[in-house]
Amino acid sequence: MSAKSAPVLPAAIGVAEAAAVLRSGGLVAFPTETVYGLGANALDARAAARIFEAKARPSFDPLITHLADVADLTALVGALPPTVAALAERFWPGPLTLIVDRPPTVPPIVTSGLDTMAVRVPDHAVARELIRQAGVPVAAPSANRFGMLSPTRAEHVVAGLGDAVDLIVDGGPTRCGIESTIVDARDGQPVVLRLGSLPVEALVEAVGPVSVRPGSSGQPVAPGTLAAHYAPRTPLRVVTAPVPARPDDGTRGYLALREAPEGAYGAVEVLSPDGDLTGAAARLFDALHRLDATGVTEIVAERVPDTGVGRAINDRLRRAAATWQTSG
Ligand code: TXA
Ligand code: MG
Repeated sequence: MSAKSAPVLPAAIGVAEAAAVLRSGGLVAFPTETVYGLGANALDARAAARIFEAKARPSFDPLITHLADVADLTALVGALPPTVAALAERFWPGPLTLIVDRPPTVPPIVTSGLDTMAVRVPDHAVARELIRQAGVPVAAPSANRFGMLSPTRAEHVVAGLGDAVDLIVDGGPTRCGIESTIVDARDGQPVVLRLGSLPVEALVEAVGPVSVRPGSSGQPVAPGTLAAHYAPRTPLRVVTAPVPARPDDGTRGYLALREAPEGAYGAVEVLSPDGDLTGAAARLFDALHRLDATGVTEIVAERVPDTGVGRAINDRLRRAAATWQTSG
């Protein structure tokens, strides 16, 4: 499929070159603790425009801006509302994205014209060193084509987007495996706009009650939380385990949480034999990428317990399935 893939450099030798690419307006795929990001200089409108082109991403879907340190946020946007500051202080670096007012220095294309901006400090040494060396905030969506499976390994980026970036920094598989949790806490009453790697329980413990609005109704505030998203090419169906054993023709794939199902499946992936949801989240997209590559006709995916990061896993499975429940 690939025309000509961008060079892939190990993190140990690639960061300086990647920083230079960012400074000159190019696109770099790099690891974070959640998924690989497709980065560009967030202060450069033309560089940001290239992200939308490379991903075939609709211009109404705003980007997340990445910073190297918590202190860089106040330098960029000034004083923060108290609850936003408290969440940043508590969870950064980490898999939490916060909504703040967009400063005039960040061009509107980055936020799809919104007056607000999504920001986070990733908990990944390579990502932070890259941003530090680039010397600019880095706008980065997940490094996949719009609507497709998120990348948790450099190989996923090569396969999905290799011909559309200038350089890929390989930092190995990502630790969390699911995107950051997005929270709007500007008015002191935190709302989760996207479930993600930071569990809702952790937010509640830090700042009290939060409401969860996983964007199912397509409200314009977080267009990336479209119902259909994170989809493999293979149709996906979500089931509750245990599924009854049935004579099967071996053409389906199965994604299990703890143990392989009974019945003949063409391919089976088990996310976490001990049922640990954090481990399951880390392997979710990799397992889906692998099942997708086997040529099975359908992926049957088990719902997981709806607690901790399990909520985000179920959210991603539901959205992947939604792609195949709508016509066209
Ligand atoms: O873990 C992550 O967050 C990864 C890594 C690379 O950091 N990034 C990521 O970006 O998941 P992306 O583009 O796949 O998701 C960005 C989403 C948008 O689709 C939208 O839902 C939300 O962030 N978003 C961005 N700006 C926003 C804003 N101003 N208000 C509300 N939501 C916003
Ligand atoms: Mg994405």
